[in-house]
Amino acid sequence: MAAVNPVRAPQHVLTLLSELHKKSLEQEAVLSQKKRVFSSDFLGDLEDQHSKATAREEFDKLMLDKFIALDEDKCQFAYQLIHAMGATNVIEAGTSFGVSTIYLALAVASTKVTMGKPGTVIATEKEDEKAQLAKTYWAQCGPEVEGVIDLRVGDLLETLQSDLPQVVDLLLLDIWAPLALPTLKIVQPHLRRGAVILTDNTISGAAGYAALLTYLRDPHSGFQNMTLPFTNGFEMSVYLP
Ligand SMILES: C[S@@+](CC[C@H](N)C(=O)[O-])C[C@H]1O[C@@H](n2cnc3c(N)ncnc32)[C@H](O)[C@@H]1O
Repeated sequence: MAAVNPVRAPQHVLTLLSELHKKSLEQEAVLSQKKRVFSSDFLGDLEDQHSKATAREEFDKLMLDKFIALDEDKCQFAYQLIHAMGATNVIEAGTSFGVSTIYLALAVASTKVTMGKPGTVIATEKEDEKAQLAKTYWAQCGPEVEGVIDLRVGDLLETLQSDLPQVVDLLLLDIWAPLALPTLKIVQPHLRRGAVILTDNTISGAAGYAALLTYLRDPHSGFQNMTLPFTNGFEMSVYLP
């Protein structure tokens, strides 16, 4: 039996999402054929050949036209979770062309109504070109999606320093691994009890995420962690300080 898609959205939005996931997967297939898999290993290889700063620049250049969208089933899980939690304030670390953001925005648009609360999806992208294209996809989705997204263009370690909601329900970490822990530390003072952190690729990217995972899994961290069995792992950390 075909997998059930939980996402409630107009047909043109569902069609756009399918097309964007398809393009993202096609790009990833080419990258892995060339053994240029998006991973800390690849960044590590570059660091062997260049200085750390140059390696990061080379990596960013290679990724400039790449979606690297969160897998469709993980996006659907985040969408379901937002509904289950009644989450209205969501932060996305790493937006790229804004595919996962569409799911977060559809869900928050719905929970805002059912919870009778204001709410926002804060999206973050360092590359202006990527951010501009993301905006065109959100515009195609319509005002329901566009209207709940607060896009912050620039380094998220700076753009998340101000104007965060007092209470954050969910943080999606879909960002280069070394940025994950510093991002969490910026957002943590705003997390409500029961807030959720979702981190992508925590099995395949475990080495790159070592600092984050050590921090989250410390018995005194206040986080209760589970690696969900999606492809490459998807960490769900519940904040229960
Ligand atoms: C894995 S992609 C995000 C994919 C996106 N969540 C989706 O599903 O479509 C990670 C993104 O983080 C962006 N990024 C990297 N460093 C950043 C930084 N310091 N601040 C903000 N964004 C950054 C990259 O440009 C890249 O587009």
